[in-house]
Amino acid sequence: MSAAPTNLVAVRVPAKVNLHLGVGPLRPDGYHELITVFHAVDLCDVVTVRPAEALSVQVVGEGAGELPTDAGNLAWQAARLLATQAGVPAGVAIVIEKAIPVAGGMAGGSADAAATLLACARLWGLAEDGLPQLATRLGSDVAFGLAGGTALGTGRGEQLEPVPTGAALHWVFAVADFGLSTRAAYLELDRLRAAGLAPAPAGSPDTLLDALRAGDADRVAALLVNDLQPVAVRLAPILQDTLDAGTRLGALAAIVSGSGPTCAFLCADAGSAARLADTLAAEGVRTRTASGPTSGATVIS
Ligand code: C5P
Repeated sequence: MSAAPTNLVAVRVPAKVNLHLGVGPLRPDGYHELITVFHAVDLCDVVTVRPAEALSVQVVGEGAGELPTDAGNLAWQAARLLATQAGVPAGVAIVIEKAIPVAGGMAGGSADAAATLLACARLWGLAEDGLPQLATRLGSDVAFGLAGGTALGTGRGEQLEPVPTGAALHWVFAVADFGLSTRAAYLELDRLRAAGLAPAPAGSPDTLLDALRAGDADRVAALLVNDLQPVAVRLAPILQDTLDAGTRLGALAAIVSGSGPTCAFLCADAGSAARLADTLAAEGVRTRTASGPTSGATVIS
């Protein structure tokens, strides 16, 4: 689909948490074969694009100072890639309003790249059906940023199949005051596995998919699994205290989000999530509440 060119496009894009993250073998291309269940939550960045003489990126909001504003930013790469593909000049000023934790294991950078692809396609009046294909060239999680919802991810995480869900899931996220490198987490997992210190890849997510379909939060809670969790806890032992605090204070389950360090607490309902967030905040934990699934990158103006 293509739409008429316009002068400003704003796109809202969600964070993700992996409900199942099974990490398989390292592939020759440097990525790991994954079986994962992505879940988009309504903790969102907003990316706005306007026509400009040259490509630029500005980041505002939480953690903004930690992010590059040049070709090192995945949003910049997304605009450049789309412009090159379409044969148009990459003249666009990109403003990213951050709410998704930076380097937090919630795919914030990938989300911003997904939002930039959609925003620039709309700004330049380009067809949008080829965006998922371009997204996979930018990173393993970018295609999911476009798709949103809940999805089974295979390959390196870029091959997506929607997963139906019977009910909303209510979450509290504990945001760390430090980041973890995704690449470092995968390297450490390989090292631990080679030394026999990390378990084999998680099994099939089929029972989790059934529980999601049934909208049964208790069963979902019992089936959450993340192969990168022991790695994240080893890299940052404080995370075990955070996870323990969440379950002690009433979460149905606690899990590290992706490669961490954000911790995700699944709660029985929105009220329980609000109470848990308050209690954790009183203990000095920085929290966000959110629910999912929510839609992927969406034009809001
Ligand atoms: O694809 P993306 O750039 O987001 O991945 C960041 C890093 O995470 C990769 O460079 C790689 O080290 C690791 N990764 C991996 N296997 C995957 C996805 C990511 O090893 N399936």
